Amino acid sequence: MESSAPGKVILCGEHSVVYGEPAIAVPVTGLRCRARMAPAMPGSGLLLVAADLNQRTALRTAALDHPLAALARLVLEHLDCDEPDAVLTIHSDLPIAAGLGSGAAVSVAAARALAGFLGHVLSEEVASALAYEVEKLHHGTPSGIDNTVIAWERPVVFVKGKAPEVLEISIPLRLLIADSGFPAATREAVAGVRQRRESDPDFYEARFSRMGALVRMARAALEQQDLPALGRLMDANHALLVEIGVSTPRLEALVQAARLAGALGAKLTGSGMGGNIIALVTMEGAPAVAGALRDAGAVHVWQTVTT
Ligand code: MEV
Repeated sequence: MESSAPGKVILCGEHSVVYGEPAIAVPVTGLRCRARMAPAMPGSGLLLVAADLNQRTALRTAALDHPLAALARLVLEHLDCDEPDAVLTIHSDLPIAAGLGSGAAVSVAAARALAGFLGHVLSEEVASALAYEVEKLHHGTPSGIDNTVIAWERPVVFVKGKAPEVLEISIPLRLLIADSGFPAATREAVAGVRQRRESDPDFYEARFSRMGALVRMARAALEQQDLPALGRLMDANHALLVEIGVSTPRLEALVQAARLAGALGAKLTGSGMGGNIIALVTMEGAPAVAGALRDAGAVHVWQTVTT
């Protein structure tokens, strides 16, 4: 029994989405987390194996806040099933703490594999809701956008606390994702913004509402298949993210390199303070932008095309 889940990038609207503004996210289907269930000796219980991290944890003895164990307990409780005698093994292509949704991808893939092993299929809603509980352990006060776009595996317009709207994108949306090589600590980045907002609410509220307006315009640009307009909106979104203090010199170097090499737009994606940037490119322009990103120090450059 095997299941997988994609990574994700936020096209527009990170951080402001935590405060009720809309955001657009797309799945990164080429970077995946895979979860496999295999039967084990009777009485052995459930063993959780994070293969890339070389970690093996028995569910019975795992700490309450161990993310994979927490997820397994949630799934068993939801299905009203006893712990099976089995091994749950996770492999992931996704870099950890990079703004690409690796934690939510592990949760969604693992929830589906465990449920499948027990003879159940989890709907998108349920897989997303279970993963959201674990996101709270990872990130403190997440909006829920990561678990949502990853469970649906479709582009979404997301508003915290509401059912996601699946976005039909009728032109290929080609993004380069460039890793700065520095971890993006979502919990700290979100907590930092929250703290600064408390000391200067007017400044932050004004920027969040501008980000919300940009997301609505980005949606319209996508619907009108106007990629140059979308690129300009991504640039404007990045400028606001800089103003709220979540960019870094490394991220700035990557964003500038992408724009100078001909990207239609570029911005940090996810929590910032490290992690990845995204650049909107044409098919013809992609190689030059990818080369410029590598020259500017990106440790990985991936391409994803959403249709
Ligand atoms: C999520 O990938 C990035 C943030 O918007 C936090 C959240 O939405 O929970 C910064």
